Amino acid sequence: MSAEILDGKKIAAEIRAELASAVESLKAQGATPGLGVVLVGDDPASHSYVTAKEQACKDLGMFSDDNRLPATASQDEVLAVVERLNRDPRIHGILVQLPLPKGLDESAVLRAVRPEKDVDGFHPMNVGRMVIGAEAFWPCTPHGVIQMLARSGVRTEGAHVVIVGRSNIVGKPLANLLLQKAPHANATVTVCHTGTRDMGYFTRQADILIVAAGRPKTITADMVRDGAVVVDVGVNRAPDPSKKSGFRLVGDVDFEAVREKASKITPVPGGVGPMTITMLMYNTVESARRALARGER
Ligand code: GUN
Repeated sequence: MSAEILDGKKIAAEIRAELASAVESLKAQGATPGLGVVLVGDDPASHSYVTAKEQACKDLGMFSDDNRLPATASQDEVLAVVERLNRDPRIHGILVQLPLPKGLDESAVLRAVRPEKDVDGFHPMNVGRMVIGAEAFWPCTPHGVIQMLARSGVRTEGAHVVIVGRSNIVGKPLANLLLQKAPHANATVTVCHTGTRDMGYFTRQADILIVAAGRPKTITADMVRDGAVVVDVGVNRAPDPSKKSGFRLVGDVDFEAVREKASKITPVPGGVGPMTITMLMYNTVESARRALARGER
């Protein structure tokens, strides 16, 4: 049996329609949600992500402030841009696209973002609040994965979720969110990583398998239990001479083989990707709402 495809584009469009009315209502109250984007260097993948994020702002009628710096920018130059965005009342969310070029202190830059504007959820203050279950901005990809499961009727409560990957952006926050005693969470969570011996032993026990390893075909069909739900967070460029760009996007899962075993599966592209950008918009709208409630305009 071939798995049902979890359509990230469709679910993202549903959420964006909800956000469009939230933006309208905030605008009527004099608070247009604004996102400040910081992109350093010329990594092609980062450029295309940032362009998509700015387009999403435009589509929703939000304000965006684009800041592009050369790869040679100094730490102080990057910090100065962040500080200007921290102080700008039109800006409710700040996005520093990662990875930063070598030589820049990524962790110091993320700590410089005002936590109230940290819509990526990467500031240690937000990470800590998320872990203890307090109000926080949730990182966009984990948040998108949870929304996707919830809106597709996949129950995480009591399920065994196996996550492959332990990055600060996806694996670690997702594991923490899914183990909270909360709706759309309350799962038993196992995290596998490059130090895991016999990964298949663990992944075969997953009711829900979430893969964020950053390597094509990390998960092959023999590693998946019949009827499992498979979420592929990977975005890799595979050479493809038939494409004008010379590459095509593939995930971390051997899609064609695994779809014959899974009950539901996300494609790449068109799965988690559109959800990530949508949750960034969601966090920015939420931040504007909080700023308005604090009496800031
Ligand atoms: N690079 C890869 N994923 C992300 C993300 O979610 N946010 C930012 N800022 N950079 C990224």
